[in-house]
Amino acid sequence: MRQRLVVGNWKMHGSRDSVHALLTDLVAAPAPGGVGVAVCPTYLHIHQALSLCAGSAVAVGAQDCSAQEEGAFTGEVAAAMLADAGCQWVIIGHSERRQYHAESDALVAAKLAAALGAGLQPILCVGETREQREAGDAQGVVAAQLKGALGELVSAPGLVVAYEPVWAIGTGLTATPGEAQSMHAFIRGELDGLAGLDGDTTRVLYGGSVKADNAGELFAQQDIDGALVGGASLKAADFQAIVNAAA
Ligand code: PGA
Repeated sequence: MRQRLVVGNWKMHGSRDSVHALLTDLVAAPAPGGVGVAVCPTYLHIHQALSLCAGSAVAVGAQDCSAQEEGAFTGEVAAAMLADAGCQWVIIGHSERRQYHAESDALVAAKLAAALGAGLQPILCVGETREQREAGDAQGVVAAQLKGALGELVSAPGLVVAYEPVWAIGTGLTATPGEAQSMHAFIRGELDGLAGLDGDTTRVLYGGSVKADNAGELFAQQDIDGALVGGASLKAADFQAIVNAAA
């Protein structure tokens, strides 16, 4: 049985006041059984988030980490620093990192290895662009991203995959439950044999314009184990409604 998981990716949003308000509401909400919940603030707000979430069911993660262990890498944050701060999760290979920071599959693989080496649980993001889907390449792109990230690893304990079609992120367009389900089933098949993973037991989240009103039908699909939520994770009531839909 795969435990459901709902993760908020706050991207480059937040202030001390808004983080305080959002997390005060979230930790006060009744935690539905059987659903893991995590939030990924900016690096700057991780400490505040950890202290507000202490003793609650809400875990904290980062949106990225360095592939390097430590050293002269200005502006970077090491996976071990995130683990030392108290983070449990780290998002790796988000399409905005791939797109705006030219993250290659090789860099994503190195970050994944760094995260695992530091004892963090990575959320590996994969997904095709609209052009790639229209050209019939969606599965090929996702398979290549999975192999590129996981192909050299012997094991990946605690790994979670997030399928996030790029055309659905922040656009209001969502993959239909059927489209998402079919890609999730495909991903499970691809995971078998990569990094010692078992496709049946690895959690695969959906991401891309998940909202309270579409979460239920997505979570009803047998291979969708939860969501990576961007825009709708910035309001406690909206995010909590998605968490409740996963219960
Ligand atoms: P969105 O973002 O929910 O705002 O589409 C999802 C993501 O990028 O993780």
